[in-house]
Amino acid sequence: MSERDRGVGARRAPRVLLAVCGGIAAYKACEVLRGLQKAGCEVRVTMTADAERFVGAATFEALSGAPVADSLYGHPETPIPHIELSEWADLALVVPATANVMAKMATGIADDCLTTTLLACHGSCPVLVAPSMNTRMWENPATQANVLTLLERGVRLVEPASGRLACGEVGAGKLADVEDIVSAALKLIGDMTRPKDLAGARLLVNAGPTHEAIDPVRYIANRSTGKMGFAIAAAALARGAEVWLVAGPVSLPTPFGARRLNVTSAEDMRGACLSLFGHVDAAICSAAVADYTPARPADHKLKKSREHLDAIELTETADILAELCAVKGDRVVAGFAAETDELLAHAREKLERKGADLIVANDVSRPESTFGADTNRVSLVSEAGTKQLETMPLPQVADAILDAVRDLLRERGRL
Ligand code: CTP
Repeated sequence: MSERDRGVGARRAPRVLLAVCGGIAAYKACEVLRGLQKAGCEVRVTMTADAERFVGAATFEALSGAPVADSLYGHPETPIPHIELSEWADLALVVPATANVMAKMATGIADDCLTTTLLACHGSCPVLVAPSMNTRMWENPATQANVLTLLERGVRLVEPASGRLACGEVGAGKLADVEDIVSAALKLIGDMTRPKDLAGARLLVNAGPTHEAIDPVRYIANRSTGKMGFAIAAAALARGAEVWLVAGPVSLPTPFGARRLNVTSAEDMRGACLSLFGHVDAAICSAAVADYTPARPADHKLKKSREHLDAIELTETADILAELCAVKGDRVVAGFAAETDELLAHAREKLERKGADLIVANDVSRPESTFGADTNRVSLVSEAGTKQLETMPLPQVADAILDAVRDLLRERGRL
């Protein structure tokens, strides 16, 4: 646990660096600052020159009770304000995040105090952006690509709302509600203050579906969204674990701090999991790995003819979970059983056949535990017995699974 982790919530107030960019919504950053202070946070402000055209630095200085960092130069107290600020902050919050600043963040441009500080936040504190701009600017593929890049790198997003914009148009791009921005920031800070009961544990989580190529344009897939596995990775990180996340083709943001490997096919996922397994204490296999794959994917697009489709021969994929279990030694391996009938019988059969320590069983025919739901209702099946949990939001389900994995790690002396 870093010095900063120990400090948050224990000895001192959480520290938020508010990065204010040049947009009409800059005045809302004052309310965000106030909301954070009311929740007990200490706030410092960095702003761009354009932001100061909308709200003066004096306003933020008065509200925060600290000098505003708007230049890299002329700070007698520190010659390197961007490094000092990035190390001081527990969270950097960009409000409003303009298209220009997000483009700079995505490409690593650091040409003023605000963007240089955000660049220095990498590996030091999480960054949360709350964009605000005209709808066409928000929907511009360039902006969307930049947002995607930032999300993939672990930057968090408070989605802009839809409504009447300052320019008079109606559409997406309006700064999210101040309360929503403040609570997203507090949630991230809350994660930091959680007990680090998994500190020292190294986890491998696989998630999402796999795509099995029929030809260069077609594939066989399943309905998995990866949400459950990503929630497990996020919760494990918040509880202090080191996490490797092997993700099938999903469009979910990387949980802050996760080491992510993107894979496509069952064979790719197998390769990634087997090579990482040597470095971890536990593996949680939540991925819906395809059971079958085309034996000989075509190297050209198959034309619409019955012969070709009839000719697709399927071969069974390797069972990653079973392979990990076969070599696990005292490591902990958990798998999932997504079933539509005879849930517990199938789950226990999988536990025994694959040699897993834990099977998380969910009935995917129920709306609250089906693919893509934000809740899940699972049973934890292990040698010790079966524990039926209530329907809960995915983060809570993730915590319950991790509690069980933590207990098994402790039993094995790995934690
Ligand atoms: N699994 C795996 N590799 C495979 C198939 C499944 O690692 N090729 C893992 C999944 O990640 C999950 C568990 O095995 O943790 C159970 O997956 P599931 O699809 O429910 O079971 P199967 O073994 O495929 O059996 P069936 O499809 O007959 O239910």
